[in-house]
Amino acid sequence: MDPQARVQELRDVIAHHNARYHEDDSPEIPDIDYDMLVRELQQLEEAHPELMVEDSPTVLVGGAPSATFAPVEHAVPMMSLDNSFDEGELRAWAARVAKGLEMEDGSAIGYVCELKIDGIALSMRYEDGVLVQAATRGNGRVGEDITANIMTVDVIPKQLDHDRLKAAGQAVPSVLEVRGEVYMPLANFDELNESQEAAGLPRFANPRNTTAGSLRQKDSSITASRRLAFWSYQLGQVVGGPELSTHGEALDWLDTLGFPVNPEHRKVSTIDEVVAFVNHWQEHRHDLSYEIDGAVIKVDSLISQRSLGSTSRAPRWAMAYKLPPEEKTTLLRAIQVSVGRTGRATPFAVLEPVFVAGSTVEMATLHNQDQVKLKDVRPGDTVIVRKAGDVIPEVLGPVLSERPDGLAEWEFPANCPTCGEPFERPEGEANTFCVNPICPARQLSQISYFSGRSAMDIDGMGESRVALFIEQGLIADSGDLYSIDWDKVSELEGFGQTSIDNLRAAIEDSKSRTLAALLIGLGIRHLGPAGAESLAEAFGHLDVIMAASVEEMAAIDGVGPVIAASAASFFASDKAKVLMEKFRAGGVNLQGPERSQLPQVLEGLSIVVTGGLEGFSRDSVGDAIKSRGGKNPGSVSKKTTAVVVGAEPGASKVTKAETLGIPMIDEAQFIRMLETGELPD
Ligand code: IVH
Repeated sequence: MDPQARVQELRDVIAHHNARYHEDDSPEIPDIDYDMLVRELQQLEEAHPELMVEDSPTVLVGGAPSATFAPVEHAVPMMSLDNSFDEGELRAWAARVAKGLEMEDGSAIGYVCELKIDGIALSMRYEDGVLVQAATRGNGRVGEDITANIMTVDVIPKQLDHDRLKAAGQAVPSVLEVRGEVYMPLANFDELNESQEAAGLPRFANPRNTTAGSLRQKDSSITASRRLAFWSYQLGQVVGGPELSTHGEALDWLDTLGFPVNPEHRKVSTIDEVVAFVNHWQEHRHDLSYEIDGAVIKVDSLISQRSLGSTSRAPRWAMAYKLPPEEKTTLLRAIQVSVGRTGRATPFAVLEPVFVAGSTVEMATLHNQDQVKLKDVRPGDTVIVRKAGDVIPEVLGPVLSERPDGLAEWEFPANCPTCGEPFERPEGEANTFCVNPICPARQLSQISYFSGRSAMDIDGMGESRVALFIEQGLIADSGDLYSIDWDKVSELEGFGQTSIDNLRAAIEDSKSRTLAALLIGLGIRHLGPAGAESLAEAFGHLDVIMAASVEEMAAIDGVGPVIAASAASFFASDKAKVLMEKFRAGGVNLQGPERSQLPQVLEGLSIVVTGGLEGFSRDSVGDAIKSRGGKNPGSVSKKTTAVVVGAEPGASKVTKAETLGIPMIDEAQFIRMLETGELPD
């Protein structure tokens, strides 16, 4: 295609996607595809300067302001950022900065590395210490007035703390513009989606779009219910503030003023350290409780920033580093339905394999019948697939502009594809079930779960063997694993004496698993590892649990009425009774843990461990704390009593402890604490 035609085409396509992203909060394509379109346009414009126009999307920022909210002209424009996608581009930027600052090499530049929060940019104006206006970025010059909605965000100060400023020896600035990112913490996003699904409403695609939608509500009580959060990272106009000479000082000042400043930012001297920072977050992005899409690197010195200046679109003193995308598009080949251990029928997408966030995705969940309908995804569609962290890959929706003509809607099957029995959908439920208790698909997933790592951990008893044994009539439930006819197994293809011996030994070994592991393996709805531990500890024996009433179970710390009702109805069933007898006859351990005899010196205390200790393994250190009545959570919070720091500790835990002022102790001090329960002086 000739460059002029391609440039025009790219501008049209980018304008279309800009409107979907900035104005409708509903992007049709993943960010990476958008970035690549912009980049292609940029390259063409560089190669053919005669094709450049003033209003090219490579020059303009963002989208048009909407009619719903009043326009706000920013006192200082809200710029965009240039993007880099690999180490080479980051180093090339550093070299440009060094050249711009007329430095021999870049070793004296000094940078602040920040996380690139995947949210919505916000600018807030405080006059004489009072929040008077909050606006979106809009097109960079004019944004939208969303003050009423921002007033509902808890962590945002509505007024500067005069006493605190006085204590720091500072005056209240007459004008202060604070910029940063509004975002939705992942836990809130997941909760919101669970309630959407339960109500038969469409799931939200990702926290960023949900944040955008939440900020655009006309009714600010809806915004309030979304529990948004905020990180500040930049100053706009300031009148009457302290003299600041670095960006790092600006962040410290924001912190003093009471604004949330992301604790993961780092001040570094060299580009090598910048590269180490982005590499670290490439690995650890999912350790965070919110989403990031990269890092932002800023030249620290404000004088250097001024001398580098900006292009019309973005500052030269800052650079975004984009992490690999977690959303990609691919072809939806088919929709199938799988039946899980509770009989729940889950539609899933069979995809043209696509590499997303570190691995190839070939299947992705579509949640339930209603969600397929609401998303209107059809076999043959190009769809957006999302794989964030350890979350199961999900199909977000179709790219409608790429739908071939005449594509038929997909119908949920009337019968279970495995056993052929009709599906049932209980009144008022979003889920459809196969209710046939001997459906091979249900048995397969139940027995595989029972044998899996999180339950009885039977090495070698994976899904394909379970399927084979069911097919051969050797087992029909997990209790049958303890009375397998091994002579019959030896007649099967692929079962030599060694593999039989290994499998028998693994099953034998599983008989001595804890009662909690057995309870987990039963696959009782709502009963997770924590609930199973609590039941095992409180009742001490499977027989006692089976005899317990709902009320007795619900009274246990960590159980509650929902789990109790589900467990009691499970144990009341004939099927459970038969199963338990099979376990008993097979010699499976039904006994709970011995009650702890240790003095409960850590009662009410919460101790986090990071890094390796010499005298403890990861498990045993947790046991040592819990057996003395303490708690051993995986992350540091305000409630943490102390953080035990071992070899190669996690940077984020240490930083968080520092930020929150939580005492950090070494292994020797920890051992003393285990004896006395007292923190060292
Ligand atoms: S600085 C002039 N810092 O990324 C500098 N932006 O792609 C302006 N963002 O519009 C931005 N985290 O919405 C900056 N730590 C951070 C950021 C950040 C996220 C967003 C912001 C900006 C967009 C540019």
